[in-house]
Amino acid sequence: MGYGGISTDKVYLVTGAAGFIGYFLSRRLLEQGCKVIGIDNLNDYYDVNLKNARLDNLKPFEKFIFVKGDISDKELVIDIFGRFRPNIAVNLAAQAGVRYSVENPDAYIKSNITGFFNILEACRHYPVEHLVYASSSSVYGSNKKVPFEETDPVDYPVSLYAATKKSNELMAYTYSHLYGIPATGLRFFTVYGPMGRPDMSYFKFTVSYFKGEPIRIYNNGDFENDLYRDFTYIDDIVEGIIRLLGNPPTKANGMASHRVFNIGNNKPEKLMTFVETLEKALSNALGREVKFKKVYEPMKPGDVPVTYASIDRLQEAIGFKPQTSIEEGLQKFADWYVEYYKVR
Ligand SMILES: NC(=O)c1ccc[n+]([C@@H]2O[C@H](COP(=O)([O-])OP(=O)(O)OC[C@H]3O[C@@H](n4cnc5c(N)ncnc54)[C@H](O)[C@@H]3O)[C@@H](O)[C@H]2O)c1
Repeated sequence: MGYGGISTDKVYLVTGAAGFIGYFLSRRLLEQGCKVIGIDNLNDYYDVNLKNARLDNLKPFEKFIFVKGDISDKELVIDIFGRFRPNIAVNLAAQAGVRYSVENPDAYIKSNITGFFNILEACRHYPVEHLVYASSSSVYGSNKKVPFEETDPVDYPVSLYAATKKSNELMAYTYSHLYGIPATGLRFFTVYGPMGRPDMSYFKFTVSYFKGEPIRIYNNGDFENDLYRDFTYIDDIVEGIIRLLGNPPTKANGMASHRVFNIGNNKPEKLMTFVETLEKALSNALGREVKFKKVYEPMKPGDVPVTYASIDRLQEAIGFKPQTSIEEGLQKFADWYVEYYKVR
């Protein structure tokens, strides 16, 4: 039986299954009756309770198998592929975050380079019908031409995080070329939503507010030239991935069966508009007016001024584009936050 781009006959392997995107993707696959093998090392880059809470929501599904492990452990990864023989592999496990890559570069090489290499090796030894992996909008660096198109040059990453993601695209291309692995890289644009990542700005602003602390906005206080971000709601990301899973690339014009897609909202918002929308969403959730105390600071190394996705390629491939407005998406986040953390 098929559903959209997925099939209940297939085995799906999702790395980073306790992570934000991995959790929502796994849940959607399980709800449709698919078998999901989830891997995650449950590292403490951010609150492990949140990762465990996500996992607790997955564990009741009969067709969910969880393996606690690190994708930088080659033996483990090869063993999991050998044992479960996934038809489709989705690599979402990574050390995420731009700023943390300044403080802790080793974590990025370990998870994003060695870890991803191990996934490629496993796909080589146990061929999959489709490998889908997370890249990032950060590969566009400080590119000025907008919207960002997949054909734009991405040779100037401004953080090690971005460099690892661009490297993943190169490595996947090579493995696809050498071993015929159909592979798709997804350049996600600032994904947000309930149970999201506590290291991201909207989450941090909310935490600061409830602690009675000012929020730190890294836009130099320059509202004329504010930062722009293409904020993308989690359900739109999951819908995009689901549609792509059953739609692997084929070899064309002598090139490997590999391609990359932007998945973004195609509607960049000023950071300050996003902040005001979050204030309104929290006001609605709490039934009283919320105003953040704001402190403006310079941009941080590795930050980029604009992200803006062209999604023509995505739309052409799967007939879908993200559609959730920040009003709708942030309201869902605010309602979840108030309920989950029992704040008033
Ligand atoms: N959320 C975004 O806005 C965004 C934007 C661009 C790209 N991405 C990419 O999408 C993917 C998923 O992001 P997310 O927001 O869900 O992040 P996340 O940090 O919530 O999820 C990643 C999960 O992978 C796990 N993990 C990390 N290293 C691991 C390792 N070596 N072995 C096993 N598990 C490991 C972590 O414990 C975590 O649960 C990542 O590759 C990230 O770089 C996310």
